Amino acid sequence: MSWARRAVPAAVAAVAALAARDLLQRDHALRRNFPVLGRARYLIESIGPELRQYIVAGNDEERPFTRDQRRWVYASAKQENNYFGFGTDNDIEHTAGYPIIKHRTFGRAVPPSAPTAGHDVTLPCAKVLGAARGRAHAFRPESVVNISGMSFGSLSGNAVEALNRGAALAGCLHNTGEGGLSPYHRNGGELVFQLGTAYFGCRDERGRFSLERLKDLVAAEPVRALEIKLSQGAKPSLGGLLPAAKVSAEIAATRGIPAGRDCVSPSRHAEFSDCDSLLDWVELLAAETGLPVGIKSAVGDLGFWEELTTLMRDTGRGVDFVTVDGGEGGTGAAPLIFSDSVSLPFQQGFSRVYRTFAERDLHEQVVFVGAGKLGLPDNAVVAFALGADMVNVGREAMLAIGCIQAQKCHTDTCPTGVATQNAWLARGLDPARKSVRAANYIRTLRRDLVKVAEACGVEHPGLIGTDSVEILDGRTSSIPLDRAFGYRPEWGMPSAADRAEIVRLMTAEAPQGGSAPPSPTAVG
Ligand SMILES: Cc1cc2nc3c(=O)[nH]c(=O)nc-3n(C[C@H](O)[C@H](O)[C@H](O)COP(=O)(O)O)c2cc1C
Ligand code: SF4
Repeated sequence: MSWARRAVPAAVAAVAALAARDLLQRDHALRRNFPVLGRARYLIESIGPELRQYIVAGNDEERPFTRDQRRWVYASAKQENNYFGFGTDNDIEHTAGYPIIKHRTFGRAVPPSAPTAGHDVTLPCAKVLGAARGRAHAFRPESVVNISGMSFGSLSGNAVEALNRGAALAGCLHNTGEGGLSPYHRNGGELVFQLGTAYFGCRDERGRFSLERLKDLVAAEPVRALEIKLSQGAKPSLGGLLPAAKVSAEIAATRGIPAGRDCVSPSRHAEFSDCDSLLDWVELLAAETGLPVGIKSAVGDLGFWEELTTLMRDTGRGVDFVTVDGGEGGTGAAPLIFSDSVSLPFQQGFSRVYRTFAERDLHEQVVFVGAGKLGLPDNAVVAFALGADMVNVGREAMLAIGCIQAQKCHTDTCPTGVATQNAWLARGLDPARKSVRAANYIRTLRRDLVKVAEACGVEHPGLIGTDSVEILDGRTSSIPLDRAFGYRPEWGMPSAADRAEIVRLMTAEAPQGGSAPPSPTAVG
């Protein structure tokens, strides 16, 4: 037999063996869905830096998440080495708007020395959600990092399950998104139930909101809070359409709609039509369920926020939390003009909303939640300094469970099984394994936040003040965060009582102190 005649069957057998191995393993959704071919990604990734250095893009050029940012999320999720060598490759000196965090030499908090210290630290919210308004089920969220609303429908069932199990492992909250509460949300993670314009999961046969159904739902599930979705940064003012082909029996049952028919989400709520009726509805939901109730919104015209806060101050009604979504936020699908240009980016939008509350002295009574690429520690720190009490992570959590930023979420062909209803593709994503990655990523982000807080001399990221951050102008100077966003110096912090309590909680748990014993001649 010639050499070629022997080599061909051997090569075919080797490829078949590789394919079988890829199909049977559960660690990599891409290889499971695309046996053998999927390996090309890892090969190209491994020689990518060398190729890109000469040919394609730099480490910080890709969007929405740069390669460095994705590498940090992937490594954190796998508990691999997430350090970077040689120093920053960001153009700090020449980038206008670059935030710099100012560490303190002799700060109040003393960071522990071990590099892994803090990985398992619980990092509770500095405010008690719903306490200011006396809600029956007010509670202190255990984690300042929580999973953002992304519906079953836009995400696969396996992805939702991975996130929900991850939330349970990491001790954080999982927002259902507006697509209702599916069986995949029932895997141990505590929930924030989101009410969108279609009231999926709590609507009657005619599509009207049903208070009874909502009460039954929250009584049966570990729902800790309700979020009324007014808008989303990537597509404010738009409704949505899930085409008939995607409305499977499972999605239909979760949403409370007929299977196999187009599923339309209106662009406006039917239960309220202005700030006054919105506040009435908030109070109704809170009274009937006992849960804290908040709103999620992108920020455009400020008139809404001014009217809302004036009514809160003057009438005593009010929301327990406000989730501000930045215009840079993600979506399963949206028209380009909306994603690119409608609504303010997070820092601008959030600071305007916070100022509106603070000017009416309401900022200490409301829990502020931020979203919009805040699953990256540097962005999150600026959000906390501006007054955020918690951050929600959406796409970063998707990255942690295998998303490779292919940006095909709107086509139902997601290669990693994260954002698809295609059963074959979704099958590649193993919820049990990916849940550990989601939890690892959240824990790592929390650890980094604690470490940066300690570097700034405080015990908790919510205590990082605007005086700890400056914005570079890209040339020769910088301005402090409070001046950049028109804050009074005392803004951006919880109340004195909340500050004292969170310091007590953090110092009771976190190990303190990182130095060797002083020498006999030490002076202080
Ligand atoms: C696939 C996908 C689905 C989403 N679905 C919802 C949703 O149902 N409700 C909602 O309020 N926001 C939704 N969002 C927005 C996210 O909750 C979040 O606010 C936004 O992506 C910003 O966070 P990020 O930058 O960490 O992704 C979705 C985002 C993505 C990527
Ligand atoms: S389509 Fe691409 S960007 Fe969207 S979830 Fe899948 S891998 Fe991620």
